[in-house]
Amino acid sequence: MAIGDHLRLLADETRLRVLHLLAEEPLTVAELQDVLELGQSSISGHLAKLKQAGLTHDVPEGSARRYRLRDDLDSALKSAWLAVRALSANEAQTQIDHERLIALRQRRGSSWVDRVAGSLHREYAPGRTWESLCHGFIRLTRFGRCVDVGAGDGAMTELIAPQATEMTCVDPSSAMLAAARARVATLQLSNVHFVEGSGEKLPLPDASADTVLFLQSLQYMTDPERALGEAIRILAPDGTLLVVTLAKHTSVEADAFGHQHRGFTPEQLKRWTRALQQHHTDELPRETRSPHFQTIILSANKRS
Ligand SMILES: C[S@@+](CC[C@H](N)C(=O)[O-])C[C@H]1O[C@@H](n2cnc3c(N)ncnc32)[C@H](O)[C@@H]1O
Repeated sequence: MAIGDHLRLLADETRLRVLHLLAEEPLTVAELQDVLELGQSSISGHLAKLKQAGLTHDVPEGSARRYRLRDDLDSALKSAWLAVRALSANEAQTQIDHERLIALRQRRGSSWVDRVAGSLHREYAPGRTWESLCHGFIRLTRFGRCVDVGAGDGAMTELIAPQATEMTCVDPSSAMLAAARARVATLQLSNVHFVEGSGEKLPLPDASADTVLFLQSLQYMTDPERALGEAIRILAPDGTLLVVTLAKHTSVEADAFGHQHRGFTPEQLKRWTRALQQHHTDELPRETRSPHFQTIILSANKRS
């Protein structure tokens, strides 16, 4: 859809009222009727248009359907909606609808917890983010002597280093390493080392690492097979390799990020690391934003 279509969609007063309410919480048609004091067919017509435009989706709930704003909006549509939302937030009608929604909640009586039972995975709950979960789970992990290949600017170092005995960040980009050094300097971390170098020729001794990580970096390497061979060389017996990278794709968009490869298949990753054992591969759900990249994860261990 063109921007003009987005703006026409958002220019309708009833649709805007519906969107403001759904931005507060997912609602059924009956609940929208209650707040908006409009007929069911009018509301259903607007909901159909919003769904068709990709602004909302709905899930069955008993004999009704509950409508919600999508959290994976197309970026132009999202910008248009956020701008219109900000412009209309203080309108008298928006405020009246907000008050009516509060009154509806009081009449409805059921708590948020009861309402989201069965759909919690789709709901926003304060603090319940993948990031917070990751920060929590990482406390259960031990990395030992960890080498992060293609470590970047230290965003992950901050997370991992407290769980490692030693952490070596390898990256060929002096700009990335300078940013990583600056970041680590502000933290109480004395176990982090920085090495300028490439994954294909790791300037590190044999059998010197307990964990070797490639976190969205393998696709940047000219010779990924060689880089994984280097990882196997520096792994100590019992050591673990973890590769988090993109699944094979055909999207030119990746070129703009400097990728040398359009992802990998699990079979490729397993073949290149066949000297290791206990291979596990996971393919994560595709990203909701276009072009829907998919991450794959490989972990494998070196024989003891
Ligand atoms: C998308 S960043 C990922 C950074 C970091 N792993 C993270 O997740 O925050 C990719 C990194 O790979 C690095 N890189 C590019 N070519 C490389 C190579 N041949 N060997 C090792 N790292 C490389 C880049 O300099 C960049 O810092």
